[in-house]
Amino acid sequence: MTHHESPTGSYDDATGIDAEVESGRPVLSVRELSKTYTTKRLIGSGKGYQALSNVSLDLRAGEILGVVGESGCGKSTLGKVIAGVETTGIGGAEVGGQPLDLAQGTRTRDQRRQVQFVYQSPRGSFNPARRVSAALRYNARLAREVTGEPVDDALERAVKSVGLGAQHLDRYPNELSGGQLQRLSIGRALITRPDIVFLDEPTSSLDVSVRGEILNLLTGLRESMGLSMILVSHDLDVISYVADRILVIYVGQIVEEGSASDIVARPAHPYTRALLTASSLPDPAEPLELAVDVRDASFLPTGCRLAPRCPLAEARCSEPQHLVASHGRSVRCWKAESTLR
Ligand SMILES: Nc1ncnc2c1ncn2[C@@H]1O[C@H](COP(=O)(O)OP(=O)(O)OP(=O)(O)O)[C@@H](O)[C@H]1O
Ligand code: SF4
Ligand SMILES: [Mg+2]
Repeated sequence: MTHHESPTGSYDDATGIDAEVESGRPVLSVRELSKTYTTKRLIGSGKGYQALSNVSLDLRAGEILGVVGESGCGKSTLGKVIAGVETTGIGGAEVGGQPLDLAQGTRTRDQRRQVQFVYQSPRGSFNPARRVSAALRYNARLAREVTGEPVDDALERAVKSVGLGAQHLDRYPNELSGGQLQRLSIGRALITRPDIVFLDEPTSSLDVSVRGEILNLLTGLRESMGLSMILVSHDLDVISYVADRILVIYVGQIVEEGSASDIVARPAHPYTRALLTASSLPDPAEPLELAVDVRDASFLPTGCRLAPRCPLAEARCSEPQHLVASHGRSVRCWKAESTLR
């Protein structure tokens, strides 16, 4: 077994898994992450739209963590701040045991290697005028700096790991299908032997017929490489198919967390129950109608954020709701807490 030294640990050539990752501690820890966007209208006022409020999470080695919630709830923002695409997040984070700066977005080259982001639209992430190999070279050079692996070897390894051949590297994006391009996006992320891959709705822009293939590719990569992933979707069916654990986000806050099987079988929070009702999974006992676009939620209540939409709301719901943990589950709703015990 060959190991290469890196600033954060060592690599096993056979698996590509960072040795530190195997030690059992989370590959990624995020603590109390908040992110506020200041729109043009609000510049100078000191105000902004808080897209994420005190989000904490741990991602364990080889785990697929699903993040689910309606459009606008902050799913992409979470990934962008972790990956350094969006800066000025407030909070703490560690990757591979090393601190990650969320406030400046300044990353060393090794930190850029460690956290990879796969975008929703594969066509949007390849330059139509250039062969796809050009889009993979930046990451291949990051890999070479850390492991010494030649760029061409890294490119070939990447395409093979996602079920494509070296011939695909010479193609232009318009010569490839959406599914092939999304495979290449995932391959581009894998080139750097990342600690974490954040996949932002990786199947939603694809034909239904190829969505399953991509999800199977992801679960296969988890098995073969021990890859740790955060997978975003607004579709609980997708998440429950591949994820080990699920985070449910509502207007920038985690409202429920637990193992995927547990959450699907026994959703505790009224919002999770509503999401499940909207999908094709079995109806929970008390379905909710949620028909409001959260982008319109200009007013955030100081108490439970769901209160204006929740048919179970009572006076006590106007008090701030805290994420309460019990038996491996967490829920942010005083009424649902008792169901966890
Ligand atoms: N660059 C930006 N400037 C201002 N507001 C933004 C910006 N990006 C996102 N937002 C706002 O932050 C909130 C969270 O957006 P985000 O894109 O993270 O949501 P999402 O859960 O990924 O939604 P979707 O499912 O539609 O992709 C939304 O209200 C959005 O309008
Ligand atoms: S705290 Fe109240 S309003 Fe919020 S989800 Fe629970 S029951 Fe509904
Ligand atoms: Mg998004």
